[in-house]
Amino acid sequence: MKLLKSRYALFSLRQNIRSLARLLTIDEKELISFVMELFNDNDFNLHVRKVYKTIGRLDFGQLAALPELYAIIRAISPQIIIETGVASGLSSAFILHALRRNDSGWLYSIDLPPYMIRYEDTEFVSLPKGLEVGWAVKGEDRKRWSLIFGNSLDVLPKLCKKLGKLDIFIHDSRHTYSVMFNEYKNCWPYLRSGGLLISDDVTRNDAFKDFSILVQRKPIFLVAPRIFPIWSGGICDKIAVIGILRK
Ligand SMILES: C[S@@+](CC[C@H](N)C(=O)[O-])C[C@H]1O[C@@H](n2cnc3c(N)ncnc32)[C@H](O)[C@@H]1O
Repeated sequence: MKLLKSRYALFSLRQNIRSLARLLTIDEKELISFVMELFNDNDFNLHVRKVYKTIGRLDFGQLAALPELYAIIRAISPQIIIETGVASGLSSAFILHALRRNDSGWLYSIDLPPYMIRYEDTEFVSLPKGLEVGWAVKGEDRKRWSLIFGNSLDVLPKLCKKLGKLDIFIHDSRHTYSVMFNEYKNCWPYLRSGGLLISDDVTRNDAFKDFSILVQRKPIFLVAPRIFPIWSGGICDKIAVIGILRK
């Protein structure tokens, strides 16, 4: 079963890279070389394995498709990225590691201060006990990072206005129709032409579908395990769907 799940993860990664290469008009081999760079980065992989061990089998909702996200950032060298939803900071860790390798770019991450959330009738904190928002980001990767606390719908408009332009926006905060749609709507005017809007969990409601229709862009979808087997000791975990629009 473990082997089957690992094969599925590799198969979905291959499909995702193919779709991304088409969307970004980049050679597939280039994207694969960045995924291999990540998989061969022993220090970083050891760190990520430790992070997953600390998180344990509890679901703290980390962004899926992290190898793909790393490859995108290495391939297009974005200067400004905004993400909403940090929690432990797995997505931030991968983004910042790629930015460090690029030796350029900046990540602005927005999250509420740690709080209790309800999810499918279970109540749990958004962080393992005693740890702070973004704890999973490696010390040396923190140099290109601003972590901002507040409600994304208050912070995003002001931040976008201040920055003027951004290359990538990533939604991974609260997955309600209203929060998702409004985050997309706030950042879209500031995305540069060719910039990317990336959203986790697009199957939760119609926000992403409706927004794609509004801005008349054809999305691509990445289907990926929440935890890639090389960091989880073979466990493939839940599958998530990430939507991407290119402006
Ligand atoms: C799914 S987790 C983020 C996981 C993270 N991207 C990762 O890969 O590890 C969702 C986070 O969104 C934050 N959040 C929820 N609603 C928010 C809002 N309106 N504004 C900012 N952050 C929000 C929560 O505090 C939680 O930490």
